[in-house]
Amino acid sequence: MKGLNIVILAAGKGERMVSSKSKVMHRIMGKPMIGHVVDRAETLYPEAVSVVVGYQKEQVEGYLKGRNVRFCIQTEQKGTAHALLTTESFLRDGPILVLYGDVPLMEDSTLKNFLDTYKKTGEITFMITDVENPKGYGRVITKNGLISKIVEENDTTEEQKKITAINTGICIMPRNAFDYLKAITPGNKKGEYYLTDICDVAQKDGRQVRSYHHRKASEVLGINTRRELLNASIIMKDRILDRLMNQGVTLLDRNIYVETQVTIGKDTIIYPNCYLTGNTSIGEDVTVGPNCVIHNSTLKNSVVVESFVNIDGAEIEEGAVLGPFSRVRPASVIGKRAKIGNFVEIKNSTVKEGAKASHLSYIGDSEIGRNVNIGAGTITCNYDGKKKNKTVIEDNAFIGSNTALVAPITVGRNTVIGAGSTITKNVPEDALAVARAPQKHIKGYGRRR
Ligand code: UD1
Ligand code: CA
Repeated sequence: MKGLNIVILAAGKGERMVSSKSKVMHRIMGKPMIGHVVDRAETLYPEAVSVVVGYQKEQVEGYLKGRNVRFCIQTEQKGTAHALLTTESFLRDGPILVLYGDVPLMEDSTLKNFLDTYKKTGEITFMITDVENPKGYGRVITKNGLISKIVEENDTTEEQKKITAINTGICIMPRNAFDYLKAITPGNKKGEYYLTDICDVAQKDGRQVRSYHHRKASEVLGINTRRELLNASIIMKDRILDRLMNQGVTLLDRNIYVETQVTIGKDTIIYPNCYLTGNTSIGEDVTVGPNCVIHNSTLKNSVVVESFVNIDGAEIEEGAVLGPFSRVRPASVIGKRAKIGNFVEIKNSTVKEGAKASHLSYIGDSEIGRNVNIGAGTITCNYDGKKKNKTVIEDNAFIGSNTALVAPITVGRNTVIGAGSTITKNVPEDALAVARAPQKHIKGYGRRR
């Protein structure tokens, strides 16, 4: 909308969260509440977005660094009207839409409809909704379809407590109504400057205050407690799962946790109890078996992840097969059609196309060539007590079971290493390396003992 100013109030402490963190920095499906609100604001193509910060402002500013928002500092939290006043120097001529940093579940269409309705009247408008239990919210008193007053919980009479129409906090006003804020006084039990008191001031000046009723309360309610935070996560999670299913992803259960940023391609199947977080991107036709944790990782098309696999900060190329019970740690790349089997741990290593480590291995700080076979029990001894050293295993090498590769070391292409070897020197190409005590036979020993 042309000239639209959006202000996000996020300076408050949020006492009821019992936290040393700013309330708006608490995460919902992996993203701080304030991040969700800024995302919603951006969908409206505003002229400017101002975020009012105060309590723990460094956290909020740090998180939003790089986003197209300006920060207004409210040093003392004297109320929502006081907070809004701090944005004055940043405001353009257009209307001012006020969002709350602790109301993160709004849908894009809700805000768009709210703006469209405002455009018809150009008058101060509060978004209101109905709730079963209105405790804690500002009660909206209407007369002839207009708002006459919004009374905060602390200031309600017994009669007013029963009102179920509540203020969501979301409101919009024309630029020329901003000056009314300056006339608001802290004449309430809390001694704060309430934005909701703009109703009185505007009416005294002969202006009307409108309400916009939104039906789906759960989407426009504020988060003040950990309980509400959990409820919000459940709602957001369901939305994410619905979005994924609409995009062609099969989920075998609702008990799958997928954070906001995660993307998943079509025909991928996710089994129950998976936990997909951070900047994870999963391709098409992938299978993620039950109980997997995948964080900040990329899985290309047709990857198969069997049960109980943990992948963090890794890239898994097309058609690779992992698990069950594998762990792939940061800075690892698993090549096309490679296989990482049970109880194999990979760290900071590249495993190239077609290579296999099927059982019980540790591969750290290594480069594993094409079609290498790593036998069961192979360990790259990468740590000498002071620093990490590199292991290079070139293409087509065959590493026998229970081999210890003492890094730094290079194993040439096409080599074979005998099972049980402890390899401390580089192995040339095409060689057989065996480094273990030769087997002796003592004849008749069994009979004599
Ligand atoms: C507010 C509304 C109430 C509404 C409810 C909906 C007022 C006076 N009351 O009450 O009518 O039903 O939201 O959720 O507006 N903030 C600041 N600076 C301040 C105070 C608050 O930036 O000095 C920010 C907070 O960080 C928060 C938002 O404003 O994001 C709302 O503040 P909060 O104290 O939670 O208001 P409520 O009591 O919930
Ligand atoms: Ca609140």
